Amino acid sequence: MKYDLVIENGTLVTATDTFQASIGIRDGQIAAIGQDLSADQVVDAAGLLVLPGFIDPHVHLDMPTPAGNSSDDWFTGTRAAAFGGTTTVIDFVEAEREETLLHALDARRNLAASQAVIDFTFHMTLDRTNDNTLAEIPAVIAAGLTSFKCYTTYAMRLDDAQLLSALKVVGNAGGLTIVHSENDAIVNRLRADFLAVGKTEPRYHPLSRPAESEGEAVERVLALAQVAGAPVLIVHVSTRLGVEAIQRAQSRGQAAYGETCPQYLLLTDEAYSAPGFEGAKFICSPPLRKADDQNALWKVLADGSFRVLGTDHCPFFYHGTKNLGRPLDDLPPFTQIPGGIPGIEARPSLLYTYGVRTGRLSLNRWVDFCSTGPAQTYKLYPRKGALVTGADADIVLFDPHKPVKLSTAFLHENVDYTPYEGFELSGWPVKVFSRGQLIIDHGEYVGAAPRGQFIPRKI
Ligand code: URP
Ligand code: ZN
Ligand code: ZN
Repeated sequence: MKYDLVIENGTLVTATDTFQASIGIRDGQIAAIGQDLSADQVVDAAGLLVLPGFIDPHVHLDMPTPAGNSSDDWFTGTRAAAFGGTTTVIDFVEAEREETLLHALDARRNLAASQAVIDFTFHMTLDRTNDNTLAEIPAVIAAGLTSFKCYTTYAMRLDDAQLLSALKVVGNAGGLTIVHSENDAIVNRLRADFLAVGKTEPRYHPLSRPAESEGEAVERVLALAQVAGAPVLIVHVSTRLGVEAIQRAQSRGQAAYGETCPQYLLLTDEAYSAPGFEGAKFICSPPLRKADDQNALWKVLADGSFRVLGTDHCPFFYHGTKNLGRPLDDLPPFTQIPGGIPGIEARPSLLYTYGVRTGRLSLNRWVDFCSTGPAQTYKLYPRKGALVTGADADIVLFDPHKPVKLSTAFLHENVDYTPYEGFELSGWPVKVFSRGQLIIDHGEYVGAAPRGQFIPRKI
């Protein structure tokens, strides 16, 4: 049998196995994995790792905020993701006050489809739990979204009673609630206290959101989920307190999951004390933490207690947006600086260099939390996140020795800085296929635009 394309001589790495084989691709899907496959077009992957396309389950593209939209739109953001080997992203739908969830989904889906170059889906944000909204949840799931995001802080926060309702209704419908967990009272009180005494510089940002604010909120959300009898995933876990709370829930048999992000593994709160206003580049919530928190996070990625690594990519220009366009002698207090940092492009390679090459992680764990884990958690599997026949041929050919020095000039994110400036990596994708189409070839984007598809998910 002839295939459209065969990738041969490479080392296939999945979440569980590492082996030599060829992949035969037909009609955009993996049609065979074996030996001696033939096609008119053959790609030699000798010396390369052949991986399932990476999935970034937490991105904010073109996200409206009072300071303006996050600076990567669906074209620049998904193209940057593709350069780094990411072939599917999960973003968010945020309905306006008077808008139905389904209407907001339609609008967001159309926007993404008009620009995206890789496949995409969404988490539905629940910032209200009135009867109409809760009644829409089964229809949202039927429309292909199986995960619902709630907040315990920010203007979008739900109180405990509302969160309990959301967990129950989403859980009963077979969905997964994912929660941004910080204690709103602690954060608001400390922010106000710092401002009152003129402590306005970026270095007060992490002090206003101490580890305990995450630890308490994670414990509370887990308790609410236990009472609701519903599964829950805590997004962007940043602290040992959060990690250990989730592990305790897991060991009592609760369906409790955690996501972390490269910034919490590779950067610390010392970044906020950079000279001048530089610390603003690292303002995100929860904030960067300490080496001890990093150690706890590396451990759960290595042992499989956490199977989801997202970026929380939410870029804002340092010049113009992080400073709200104000002059150097009138910079905004840390409470007004738009929160969020970039990272959509380098996530897999950062974790390869600092996780796999340092011996902290196995190759298979790396593939799991960058691809298979998010696919299984968010019901994209086995269409995505797998090297199996019938899966979409989203495939990364990764050169494990390719040296890369990260800089804004090298990266393709639409933002004027990277928090990983100067990081030296060993390992980067050389070819990226999305549904069998070559979209990245040795540092060039060679795909059509737009070409990304909405991927409906099923319980
Ligand atoms: O500061 C952050 N993380 N901004 C993005 C929105 C969120 O909380 O995930
Ligand atoms: Zn969040
Ligand atoms: Zn986020």
